[in-house]
Amino acid sequence: MCGIVGYIGNRDAFPVVLNGLKRLEYRGYDSAGIALYDGTDIQMCKTQGKVADLEAKIQQNMPTKGTLGIGHTRWATHGVPNDVNSHPHYSNSGELVIIHNGIIENYASIKKELKKRGYTFTSDTDTEVLVNLIEDIKINEKVKLGKAVQIALNQVVGAYAIAVFDHNKPDEIVVAKLGSPLAIGIGDDEFFVASDATPFIEFTNNAIYLEDEEMAIVRRGREVKVRKIKGDSVVVPYVQELQLNLEQIEKGGYDHFMLKEIYEQPSVIKDTYRGRLLSDQGIIKLGGLDEYIEKFTNANRIIIVACGTSWHAGLVAEYIFEDLARIPVEVEYASEFRYRNPIITEKDVIIAISQSGETADTLAAIKLAKEKGAFVYGVCNVVGSTISRETHSGSYTHAGPEIGVASTKAFTTQITVLTMIALRLAKVKGTISQSDYMMHLHELETIPAKVEEALKSDENIKKISAVFKDARNFLYLGRGYNFPVALEGALKLKEISYIHAEGYPAAEMKHGPIALIDEQMPVVVIAVNSNHYEKVVSNIEEIKARKGKIIALVSEGDTAVKELADYVMEVPITPEALSPLVTTIPLQLLSYHIAVMLDRNVDQPRNLAKSVTVE
Ligand code: AGP
Repeated sequence: MCGIVGYIGNRDAFPVVLNGLKRLEYRGYDSAGIALYDGTDIQMCKTQGKVADLEAKIQQNMPTKGTLGIGHTRWATHGVPNDVNSHPHYSNSGELVIIHNGIIENYASIKKELKKRGYTFTSDTDTEVLVNLIEDIKINEKVKLGKAVQIALNQVVGAYAIAVFDHNKPDEIVVAKLGSPLAIGIGDDEFFVASDATPFIEFTNNAIYLEDEEMAIVRRGREVKVRKIKGDSVVVPYVQELQLNLEQIEKGGYDHFMLKEIYEQPSVIKDTYRGRLLSDQGIIKLGGLDEYIEKFTNANRIIIVACGTSWHAGLVAEYIFEDLARIPVEVEYASEFRYRNPIITEKDVIIAISQSGETADTLAAIKLAKEKGAFVYGVCNVVGSTISRETHSGSYTHAGPEIGVASTKAFTTQITVLTMIALRLAKVKGTISQSDYMMHLHELETIPAKVEEALKSDENIKKISAVFKDARNFLYLGRGYNFPVALEGALKLKEISYIHAEGYPAAEMKHGPIALIDEQMPVVVIAVNSNHYEKVVSNIEEIKARKGKIIALVSEGDTAVKELADYVMEVPITPEALSPLVTTIPLQLLSYHIAVMLDRNVDQPRNLAKSVTVE
């Protein structure tokens, strides 16, 4: 996620903004920049790289006077990471300067219109479009900056937290918020604006958190003025006295990044389909896919290469692609694929899935596939990562930085992208009825709310975790779409609690694993509404007959399984193809709470790295 910081008051702005950016580094970023008003002109410096690189660059060639400044750490969404695409961005006149966290979905149409009016652009970003839209309105409607920002934001679609100032009115900063966080720190005749309170908590713990579709003008020597962006009504802001410390703020008030990222899933799943899933028009727009759609529809097969959790997302995709788009799919561990001299032809499409975009085995698999003439499509979370640059095309997940080593929101956003690809292909190939296609589009839009609902079982899952935290082994069972979720649930438990766990297709029990069942063995069974439901109930009865302890994951309103299970976790009902997006949630929480109760290092488990960039 990008980070924004701004300061206006009586101090030197530069050290406040620079240290503020350092405080936001935990959010993950690829570039950084600062703009200062030195009393006469705007001074700006920005660079791809770290805040330390920015600081070094500023020390070489930028005056750092001035009591007004803004700064930005960029997590690229539009435009690869480089100096030009870094923020802040000037308007064409050089009089306005902006920083932005979020995505302007309709920036392309706005940019086209502004170009017709003679505006030019130096970057590929949506942000530079926004600052020139504001300038165009300010000039043509002859309004002040605040009004121009308000009019402009009524024309954009997307998510934003912005800070913008005008060279001609250097006694104010205009900020606005929709979908991305924005906090205003209130000091003694000084104001701070930032993505969260970490940049200003050392100066003041009085803060206003803007609500969605609110904007504010912070002006030297004046009260903060907050108003609605639509309708213009004045808002009486609620000034909070923050009790959080720095570390708590970085984790959004959660005890661990992993828990924060589990709870971010409703919003990042929405961010991932935002602007791509247009259910009212019945279309799915995936820029990276549209020009290569024939590669997929004419492919002999799709081979998915990935590691770990991303490999589990690939297994879910195998069910979705074959079920809906009727395209043969093989899912391969990248580490095996790269060495087994696989048979690959030009008629094969490879999908490489990777959160970090830096996993060595996955990268090697991509290179091998390209050498053999296959088309390679990437599903990555990090814009400009090596894998995203090595693949012929791809679609990004918009999960934001995933700090916890155990992958959670990356998994659900990967499945979101893969589901959109499968639905798009099924529609083109005519392998899905219009009603089924539209049902899946509308149901996909209900997933964020269903994940929110699934998260409400947290307390119940915490109680279950307390019962089983000392178990030595776990079994996770699932069928169909939820067999990969059983594997993923077992991996989550293994990697953060250090308890041995195995995922299995539920029907496989009778081919050996049932010998493991006794009263010491907790068995997590995914038994949501599905074509296999009756069979899973039989599997549960087999386990119960051997005194296994059953933790069942069921659909809301289930009765049959509740009679049999020792413990039950409920999720909202979803179409089978979308069920992994909700069934994985209780399993993430189960592993998290057990690990916390065992006092494990949840965010950095022993022996693990967030990105395995070596073999
Ligand atoms: C999952 O919780 C692990 N952190 C790990 O298995 C991870 O999914 C795997 O290393 C692949 O990483 P990638 O998605 O960044 O390629």
